[in-house]
Amino acid sequence: MYKIAVLPGDGIGAEVTAQAVRVLKAVGRRFKREFEFTEGLVGGAAYDTTGTPLPKETLELCHASDAILFGAAGGPKWDSLPAQLRPEAGGILSLRKELGLFANLRPVMVFAALENASTLKPGVVAGVDLLIVRELTGGLYFGKKYREDLPDGSIKVVDTLEYTTSEIERIVRVAFDLAGKRKGKVTSVDKANVLESSRLWREVATAVGRDYPDVSLEHMYVDNCAMQLIKNPGQFDVLVTENMFGDILSDQASVLSGSLGMLASASLGGRTALYEPAHGSAPDIAGKKQANPIASILSGALLLRFSFNLVEEAGCIERAITDVLNQGYRTADLLEQGKNAVNTVEMTDLIVKQILV
Ligand code: IPM
Ligand code: MG
Repeated sequence: MYKIAVLPGDGIGAEVTAQAVRVLKAVGRRFKREFEFTEGLVGGAAYDTTGTPLPKETLELCHASDAILFGAAGGPKWDSLPAQLRPEAGGILSLRKELGLFANLRPVMVFAALENASTLKPGVVAGVDLLIVRELTGGLYFGKKYREDLPDGSIKVVDTLEYTTSEIERIVRVAFDLAGKRKGKVTSVDKANVLESSRLWREVATAVGRDYPDVSLEHMYVDNCAMQLIKNPGQFDVLVTENMFGDILSDQASVLSGSLGMLASASLGGRTALYEPAHGSAPDIAGKKQANPIASILSGALLLRFSFNLVEEAGCIERAITDVLNQGYRTADLLEQGKNAVNTVEMTDLIVKQILV
């Protein structure tokens, strides 16, 4: 029996998470696995009912579960709340910190059927298979921050970017370990020409690299990396970078796969790992059944692989998605001329059907 905490959260988070659960249930049926799903409140949805974006019960549920499937947190409704009550800082960021989830894995794969779906030329994106390893519990996200009124009437704001050697070392090791099982190349992304934190990052990455003679290491400035990612993404295997750079570069890299709606993620490091689509709550399309459920469904596949070592089951989900895309079905974010438009639920119906054949 595998216990999964389900935290749908806000906006399209609720819609897509429900679809990922349907897919996991189908996999359970096909492979005779028993998954137990327990829902918890998080984000704005939790704030509205309990007054806090991360209720104690939710945290306890997470600690008592074997894995967490997360939807999304945030939306305009909660934007004016003080930082710690906002769904982002108070909800998902606190959850990552509380659970010690310092390693965020964001695989960017290009399904052959979607080579034409990207705004980039098919020749640029074809065959891309890269992995962004983003540090998730440090840097600007968690450093001291404040706002101060100055005597002249203006306002001063401070965000602090802190890292320690051990925080850098453990994330870089994750990247090297994974690269060793892939194409054997790590690109460490920093801004060492300007930032002290990046200079330490580069030193530590170089030192860790000596323990991995079979993996090559290159350093790349983040501005150059942003350019290289769309110019020649095929050069990358594993990218490792600090929290904020990883946030930005991963949204950008998702375009290679056709849409942010395809980008899944796994957050590891603590006893219980968390899986979530990288896309956020998308308030503009929430409640319209337009959202692409695939990022959440692929996050479910990562959950099976990383938390439960159910490799065949994870592969089954990925193959089902491949088949449905090959059959020409697309949600709105991926729609091209000549393809069949489907909504969130219809896309999932097709994937479930493919899993159960
Ligand atoms: C992500 C999201 C979050 C982040 C937001 C919702 C706080 O953009 O998971 O990439 O910045 O980490
Ligand atoms: Mg982001």
